[in-house]
Amino acid sequence: MKTTFFYAMLILAIAACSSGTNTSQTSNESQNTQPTVEAKVAVIEPPAEINELLNKHTCLTCHAAAERVVGPSYVDVAKRNYTADEIVSLIYNPKPEHWPDYPPMIGLPKVPKEDALKIANWIISLK
Ligand code: HEC
Repeated sequence: MKTTFFYAMLILAIAACSSGTNTSQTSNESQNTQPTVEAKVAVIEPPAEINELLNKHTCLTCHAAAERVVGPSYVDVAKRNYTADEIVSLIYNPKPEHWPDYPPMIGLPKVPKEDALKIANWIISLK
């Protein structure tokens, strides 16, 4: 009797998990307006050092290398042809008017200049 109950719970748990997965897949699909382009560029992975900086300074909460998240992808930022210094100053003082169809980024003055420069140079390298 106990065993039957255990299996019943197990089946329920599996059913719950897989329905959860389905829901998130559906919502991903509806946001995904350019599946081919994203599939092609999604392989960009920042080098370990940069990834660590992006993670430490919370950039990854809102940015990915090649996909729009809350903020523009770094590949799209690279297309704007900023200099490294310009990117550093935009990290400290974002100009939301540069990205009218995005919410405004909050400036991150606590990021050390050295780290911001490394990130900026990596962004430029994505061109
Ligand atoms: C809370 C979300 C959030 C975080 C955290 C965040 N950004 Fe942003 N970022 C945005 C949004 C939204 C935009 C576009 C709107 C804007 O520029 O204000 C943006 C724009 C940018 C731009 C383009 C600036 C321009 O004017 O073209 C750069 C570069 C950038 N972010 C770098 C970073 C870096 C580096 C970090 C981490 C140190 C970071 N962001 C953290 C949301 C974020």
